[in-house]
Amino acid sequence: MSTYDVIIIGAGPGGYVCAIRCAQLGLKTAVVEGRATLGGTCLNVGCIPSKAMLHATHMLHEAEHNFATMGLKGKSPSVDWKQMLTYKQDTIDTNTKGIEFLFKKNKIDWIKGWATIPAAGQVKVGEDLHEAKHIVIASGSESASLPGVEVDEKVIVTSTGALELGSVPKTMVVIGAGVIGLELGSVYKRLGTEVTVIEYLDAITPGMDAEVQKTFKRMLEKQGLKFIMGAAVQSATVKGKKATVNYKLRKDDSEATMDADAVLVATGRKPYVDGLGLDALGVERTKRGQIATNGHYATNINRIYAIGDVIDGPMLAHKAEDEGMAMAELLAGKAGHVNYGVIPGVIYTHPEVANVGKTEEQLKEEGRAYKVGKFSFMGNARAKANFSGDGFVKILADKATDRILGAHIIGPMAGDLIHEICVAMEFGAAAEDLARTCHAHPTYSEAVREAALACGDGAIHS
Ligand code: NAI
Repeated sequence: MSTYDVIIIGAGPGGYVCAIRCAQLGLKTAVVEGRATLGGTCLNVGCIPSKAMLHATHMLHEAEHNFATMGLKGKSPSVDWKQMLTYKQDTIDTNTKGIEFLFKKNKIDWIKGWATIPAAGQVKVGEDLHEAKHIVIASGSESASLPGVEVDEKVIVTSTGALELGSVPKTMVVIGAGVIGLELGSVYKRLGTEVTVIEYLDAITPGMDAEVQKTFKRMLEKQGLKFIMGAAVQSATVKGKKATVNYKLRKDDSEATMDADAVLVATGRKPYVDGLGLDALGVERTKRGQIATNGHYATNINRIYAIGDVIDGPMLAHKAEDEGMAMAELLAGKAGHVNYGVIPGVIYTHPEVANVGKTEEQLKEEGRAYKVGKFSFMGNARAKANFSGDGFVKILADKATDRILGAHIIGPMAGDLIHEICVAMEFGAAAEDLARTCHAHPTYSEAVREAALACGDGAIHS
């Protein structure tokens, strides 16, 4: 039996970051991970591989659509699917090995296997029992199932199977116009697949600023994605190598079917807590099945904590990472804290979509007086040169104090641009603070400054 200050269950972004910070703060730390490689869903079958595929297919798109305009003539590249999957796997491998290196560097023990918690202070992996002063559950999430839809990860797939299809399908139905559906739908559209997205609601990307939702949908349609909105998928079944999807339109209850070579189920994720023994321990859960925690990530059982996708809040790798760091600081007797008002969200399509803070709809609902500073990328020289003039930056600021309350960007590198606004919000900045900060020319970031200027006396280039 080995004894630790902290045992963390799960080596995804929440767990591995927590482990590294625990070790840096002098705590004897171990991580239990049953997957063959570290990094969890994000590095193995989520954020990282999907970004590799988005990058590769964006390059293809550029070659097919923009190279000739720039005077780059030649045959368009053809897709070697096997090689693209190898590139994706290499990207995964370098990242997961990187975490393994960081574990060694920080003297973190990797206990290989799946954990059960027989009692507070104890973690069982296989036949081995380990003791710890504190246990942190960071076991992440898994794709939620949809009644009537049988996932086989070959024809009807979750995001995991979608990243390793045997070949590029001719047709694909994506169930759910959320982040996963649109990112992976974009990948296949660029590879030549005919992609139809079936979405239950009347708008894509639930919870996002409505103006961005509309612009985003228009852009995706221009790229060739088809949408069936207000439709609930009832079933999907496989016959031979094809799937048949049955859906019902909400407006008149009419039913229709559609055949496809592949179906991607992207209707949300749920906490992954299988085999941990939480019920036997009496760990309290929320109505949505998440582990209930207090402001310091403590469950109702003494010295058992939880972070990341298994608890409340957006299921985002960076939210889990921040909770991991805060958790480690709290366990080391320091003041760990996460500002949940300033957690960015990014969709890595082309163009990217990013947001932080409140949407206009939320501000209206709160009855808050606000002003809008908006700037189109058409007024940004760099964006125009790079075929990226479509989209905008929108900053929402308090009408009386000018304090930034939220920002929404759809356009080039939106996922990176959002962060200067995050920092500004973290410091409680006014839009004028951003507007008075010199921004290098020519950069996409100038569009952020222009939107901030638009909150005051007006943008220059619009
Ligand atoms: P989601 O919750 O973002 O979207 C699911 C969509 O499916 C919703 O629009 C919903 O209305 C629709 N839907 C549900 N049932 C349906 C039905 N029967 N028929 C038709 N439509 C239906 O879920 P998603 O995209 O699966 O993502 C899961 C989680 O993973 C999210 O929390 C997301 O934030 C996270 N994620 C984040 C990424 C990023 O930050 N770039 C990338 C991938 C995932």
